[in-house]
Amino acid sequence: MSIKKDKVIVFDTTLRDGEQAAPASLSVDQKLRIARQLARLGVDVIEAGFPISSPGDFDSVSTIAREIKDGPVICGLARLVAKDIETCAKAVKPAQRPRIHTFIGTSAIHTEKKLRKSEDEVLALITDSVKLARRLCDDVQFSAEDAGRTAGDYLCRVVEAAIKAGASTINIPDTVGYTAPEQFGAIISMLFDRVPNIDKARIAVHCHNDLGMATANSLTAVAHGARQVECTINGIGERAGNASLEEIVMAIKLRPDFFKAHTDINTREIMHTSKLVREICNMPVQPNKAIVGANAFAHSSGIHQDGVLKAKKTYEIMSPQSIGLKDNRMNLTSRSGSHMVKTRLADLGYLETEYDMRSVYAKFKALADKKGTVYDDDLVTLMETSGGDIQDTFTLEYLTVSCGKGAIPTATAKITADGKTHRASAIGDGAVDAATKAIDEIVGYKIKIDNLSLASVTEGREAQAKVSLIASSAEGSFVGNGVSTDIVEASANAYMDIINKIARMKKFKRKIPKMADMC
Ligand code: KIV
Ligand code: ZN
Repeated sequence: MSIKKDKVIVFDTTLRDGEQAAPASLSVDQKLRIARQLARLGVDVIEAGFPISSPGDFDSVSTIAREIKDGPVICGLARLVAKDIETCAKAVKPAQRPRIHTFIGTSAIHTEKKLRKSEDEVLALITDSVKLARRLCDDVQFSAEDAGRTAGDYLCRVVEAAIKAGASTINIPDTVGYTAPEQFGAIISMLFDRVPNIDKARIAVHCHNDLGMATANSLTAVAHGARQVECTINGIGERAGNASLEEIVMAIKLRPDFFKAHTDINTREIMHTSKLVREICNMPVQPNKAIVGANAFAHSSGIHQDGVLKAKKTYEIMSPQSIGLKDNRMNLTSRSGSHMVKTRLADLGYLETEYDMRSVYAKFKALADKKGTVYDDDLVTLMETSGGDIQDTFTLEYLTVSCGKGAIPTATAKITADGKTHRASAIGDGAVDAATKAIDEIVGYKIKIDNLSLASVTEGREAQAKVSLIASSAEGSFVGNGVSTDIVEASANAYMDIINKIARMKKFKRKIPKMADMC
């Protein structure tokens, strides 16, 4: 791989270290979907799995090696064991650019307690195994597992031996996330200063997040000359996870003045990749997660909203578009100032000359105190009804759903509207799908559910479930909430909440914007 000196190779290990931490192992097909997206994102190396660990993993690595062309290096993991290395070589062989990544623990605790080998025995194993890997593959990476806790002198000897045996990438993992950034940077500098053949290899780092320092450690290593970072999408990985790709990449992109480096990542694919990994791995992301959390580009404080309206850079160090989001999000709450409310009303088509801002703002504050977040449809309703309570158009009178193993989910709903009662039945892919289809039969709106989230609001078996739906129709995007001890009923209530909001927009002949891609 010939590269410019200041390019940092992005080595993605979502499918290996990340997958180790997923609640269920991924199928070949699921891994391939993620690999295709990683290639679109522009990662330089995909670590596709640990071929010896299971036939499924072998299959995944060899399928990805076969299918992902004209793009990243495809790499497999192997212990310093001949069988591992040979199996790995077979799995990555179909790739245009295959790599074997072989590793062994080098800290005293690993060599003495886990491996029960002397330092010299480990050194001999490194030499023999890296040579074997090199006979099977031109591109060999060696990792000194637990390098962060390995004695400096010994780590230098390990790195020298691995390079001499033919490894062209030397990875320095902080396997247990123990090292502090300054210390980690010093380890990288020490290797550049003391390993005689260091110019024959690229230094990589692989940091875990046990103390929340994985990104800081990786970036400090880059500042000290490391030119490969190992990371995962959303920071998923063993225990507290790995350094997260999006954090490292955006820091390097935003601070070329400081890091004096760049990556080839297409950052506009970050959000899409993050969502795919959440969905496939069934691992949601906390709302305040840097870069890809739902709140990463959301402003709530009145002072911040006012600043962003005047100049985005006051409180946004990067644009939402740079990571593939449509826009930022301003949460309208009781902390929002009149400038923000006025701006949102203008977005919704209300001219300032048509209303009295002082009285609208007073009503907005009262509503925000009651509701928490005021959505666009709430604002339209406030403007059209002077903030008074309004009646829902549709009321769900009853809902029955039958479903079970082997049964076709079927629902019957009874709804009253304008004093008339309507009944309809429908079948669906699941209980919620059947229930919403039965409701659709009666109401007749075209609605697309974009997101459904479920939370328990009380504890125990009888817990109340709160379902939040985001759905869109020709009138815009809407958030609806429903609570019940029954999940299907809570979902139906949330759906009815949205239907009544749409009914109001139809009545007021108003449309609200489609929500920015923030969930
Ligand atoms: O954390 C670690 O040390 C690893 C190695 C296999 C690179 O995952
Ligand atoms: Zn790891």
